[in-house]
Amino acid sequence: MSNYHIKHLEEYFKVYRKSIREPENFWEEIAEEHFVWRKHWDKVLSWDFKKPEIKWFEGAKLNITENCIDRHLFTKGDKTAILFEPNDPNEASEHISYRQLYERVNKFSNVLKDNGVGKGDRVCIYLPMIPELAISVLACARIGAVHSVVFAGFSSTALSTRINDSECKMVITSDGSYRGSKTIDLKGIVDEALESTKCVETVLVAKRINSDIAIKENRDKWLQPLLDKASPECSPEIIDAEDPLFILYTSGSTGKPKGMVHSSGGYMVYTAYTFKNVFNYKHDDIYWCTADIGWITGHSYIVYGPLANGATTVMFEGVPSYPDTGRFWDIIEKHKVTQFYTAPTAIRALAKAELDYVNKHDLSSLKVLGTVGEPINEDAWHWYDDNVGKNNSPIVDTWWQTETGGIMLSPIPYVTPTIPTYATLPMPGVQPCLMDDNGKELKGRQVNGKLCIKFPWPSIARTIWGDHERYKNTYFSTFENMYFTGDGALRDAVGYYRITGRTDDVIIVSGHNMGTAPIEDIINEHQAVVESAIVGFPHDVKGSALYGYITLKESAKGRKLENIHKEINQIITEHIGPIAKLDKIQFTNGLPKTRSGKIMRRILRKIANNETDNLGDTSTLLNPEVVQEIIDGKV
Ligand code: WT7
Repeated sequence: MSNYHIKHLEEYFKVYRKSIREPENFWEEIAEEHFVWRKHWDKVLSWDFKKPEIKWFEGAKLNITENCIDRHLFTKGDKTAILFEPNDPNEASEHISYRQLYERVNKFSNVLKDNGVGKGDRVCIYLPMIPELAISVLACARIGAVHSVVFAGFSSTALSTRINDSECKMVITSDGSYRGSKTIDLKGIVDEALESTKCVETVLVAKRINSDIAIKENRDKWLQPLLDKASPECSPEIIDAEDPLFILYTSGSTGKPKGMVHSSGGYMVYTAYTFKNVFNYKHDDIYWCTADIGWITGHSYIVYGPLANGATTVMFEGVPSYPDTGRFWDIIEKHKVTQFYTAPTAIRALAKAELDYVNKHDLSSLKVLGTVGEPINEDAWHWYDDNVGKNNSPIVDTWWQTETGGIMLSPIPYVTPTIPTYATLPMPGVQPCLMDDNGKELKGRQVNGKLCIKFPWPSIARTIWGDHERYKNTYFSTFENMYFTGDGALRDAVGYYRITGRTDDVIIVSGHNMGTAPIEDIINEHQAVVESAIVGFPHDVKGSALYGYITLKESAKGRKLENIHKEINQIITEHIGPIAKLDKIQFTNGLPKTRSGKIMRRILRKIANNETDNLGDTSTLLNPEVVQEIIDGKV
């Protein structure tokens, strides 16, 4: 028997040691004993971080939906697979059993096939958090098509960039979405995006808000009538373990978004294994992750990981503040949620509301609390522990990335003693290390450096869609033979890890990864702007927020700054989405630069963070005089 479910600390250390001494045997046992494969692998692992090339379970054949749905039909056919909680609390929640999920996914798969989608084709999914989102993801996987889910809060420009990059043949969307008391015209956004794409042949439209939308002849089709006619049987396409399962875009520190490509076999094994252990999932539990399926957290820990374990996974359509700030606690009470997984930014926002919102709800069903997306500050950790967990549910602070596919560092609840703000220990199979700036590994305890991973784990992204060179440069070139995460971390006296934050120009705003360069590029397109630089500054709810330094053209100097401010946030909203709006804008006469002309973001970051005492030597700058000016003009 493999140690699939770790139950005490000694066992964790035993399992962990095995996982690094004999990684192949370790993952092979788990893969063999807990999943359905149509053909066994020829080789467990081959890898080369120089190329880089990583293959897990090469030669194996499978379909991930057979593991997430079909195999549970015998034992859990009537069990709720997806528990849908609508935006409006007065609308009934929906319990979709494994058997119903099987039928709905099959019907959807047949609709995809009837519309010319086949193995390897890319399908863009732009949907709100309604059951069709999870079902369409699974339907793509069932027929071997590659899904590319785009978060439905992204703008039409962000959507078309992603559709074009992976040349999607189809877009799946809805007439609109509910968000608290508002509705959003998703179909309108899709129509706009498709004005600048050539690859899309079909748009399937789910009905959600019953709005009047334009239907473009020969391109747009209402989904429901097609599903009604489709057969509830669709045998899964059997694909290679290394075939791509999905593409998910993440913003980088430069240029266009990176389409991270995840494989099928390794991703399945790793997300299922980590789900079971990190959430201590037991048969009758009701698990709820509040993320959107548009992010990796939703892919791995709303859809694939939970379903591969035959779990009940809650999908929530709405927002934490509607109809009031007690909504999360209301849902936990209503469905007797046992595991609750959310982001520090949500915790901080809810902690600001009156405690009564929490206290009037019965949260006694909770057994495990999770957090993800950014470092959780100590106050938020304690608030979560005291008021939500009543000091009775361990908090798992899970560190991972879109690129890692699954949770990398995390306590195991009821096993690993927790410390606020520490992601604690690596998952079995994960070999973290800390590097100094000279490329030397920092051994031992009580060290602080750049977080790398030395050895492949099964769910590591295999490439960036269409740009393997960029994959290599971004993750495997900073340190030799290592995957570089972009994060800083420290290892304390007992070997626990604490993430200290990004070490590059990526800023985590409300748990969303924001590359600064793409936002600067958009600002610079404004006709009044010469140049701009964006840095992060601490924000009590968002964690970090964006501070923009912007130099205007002479010709714009007569204009009202207030209006330019508004216009800039407007174009950011149009091109990326409201999440990338700047919280503060300071108009400057110039930006501090090195003699070679590079903007010194380090100085700007310090000014935004009120750390002007130790700016370092600024005399070597090309234009040292602007520094004081900027300090004086700080907003
Ligand atoms: C970056 C990855 C993986 C799901 C959501 C974000 C930061 C993530 C933690 C944590 C401190 C964290 C890191 C990481 N991050 N989880 N528990 N503690 N920082 O995915 O958008 O790919 O962002 O989020 O900086 O590199 P992502």
